[in-house]
Amino acid sequence: MTTRQVLVLGGTGFVGRAVCAQLAARQVRIRILSRDAAKARPLTVLPALEAMHGSPHDDATLRRAMAGVDAVINLVGILHERGRDTFERAHVDLPRRVAQLCREANVTRLVHMSALKADTEGPSAYLRSRGRGEAAARAAFGHSGLTILRPSVIFGAGDRFVNLFAAMAQWAPVIPLAGAHARFQPVWVEDVARALVDCLEGERTHGQAYELCGPDVYTLAEIVLFAARTRGLRRRVIPLPGPVAALQAFVMERLPGPLMTRDNLRSMSIDNVCECGWPGVFAFAPSAMQSVVPSYLSPGVPRDRYAGRRDPSLRPSRRPR
Ligand SMILES: NC(=O)c1ccc[n+]([C@@H]2O[C@H](COP(=O)([O-])OP(=O)(O)OC[C@H]3O[C@@H](n4cnc5c(N)ncnc54)[C@H](OP(=O)(O)O)[C@@H]3O)[C@@H](O)[C@H]2O)c1
Repeated sequence: MTTRQVLVLGGTGFVGRAVCAQLAARQVRIRILSRDAAKARPLTVLPALEAMHGSPHDDATLRRAMAGVDAVINLVGILHERGRDTFERAHVDLPRRVAQLCREANVTRLVHMSALKADTEGPSAYLRSRGRGEAAARAAFGHSGLTILRPSVIFGAGDRFVNLFAAMAQWAPVIPLAGAHARFQPVWVEDVARALVDCLEGERTHGQAYELCGPDVYTLAEIVLFAARTRGLRRRVIPLPGPVAALQAFVMERLPGPLMTRDNLRSMSIDNVCECGWPGVFAFAPSAMQSVVPSYLSPGVPRDRYAGRRDPSLRPSRRPR
């Protein structure tokens, strides 16, 4: 492995946990910086993982976290804005500062997690902020040691995507669905993590951006019905027409930890599918949803494998801002 010590921002999250496990398997020393010590604690079972408590929004903390590392992975991202946690702060200001501080600290390798369809002219504030964040990271870091990854929606044990639809199907025989016809190309979290960790080997991915998608394209309605079927449930989806979907999202975005916002709906107005196939630079084929999801969603799987219930990130906590 070219990289020996790496700082992972967002290491406690769904993708971050998979990335840390794969880094540990390749004997890389890992430092994570988390605002929440409780979320970081379970990761400390990994060999050579050091958990630092603090906010990446604080320059002094970030400088300390970068000391001695030869690569930084930035996985910080939010789907909904809340209070001072805005898209601008998480997706644009933070990547810019991470890139600037990397340069100051002589860290020459940066992997930045963005999102599929990131675009400064995109249809939603989320996608536009992702586009601006990529541009900010490029401007501050330069192209040479930067790799940008743009995944479609990510599934895997503990996801808040297929698990969420399975939970909805559990209590609703008929599911009214906004964005039912929106198309996605879901990718497995272990494939995303493997691609990301592969980026730290050699220099072939330097200065590149890669879209990451699984092998199959589904509409949102198909994904919901698949989640229900995997739980052994026969369900019906009722696609909500545009204005009703917008009204539902308007109501939902006023709830704590909203499931859907009008901005999410705007993101779904364009297909979340890759322009090209799986990047050849990653020497493996991505797994299909059908072959992976039953391993964590089927009724026969023991309850304690239902990682979403254990996900500490779903519990409220006090954290430095
Ligand atoms: N999951 C998907 O389907 C998907 C699809 C496309 C792109 N992505 C992108 O992939 C990355 C990882 O996604 P994920 O699913 O692992 O997300 P996640 O589970 O929500 O984890 C996000 C991580 O970022 C940190 N974080 C969250 N909000 C923050 C804020 N306002 N300031 C500073 N740190 C913050 C959290 O760290 P602490 O709380 O420990 O500090 C957490 O570990 C994100 O950038 C996401 O947008 C995800």
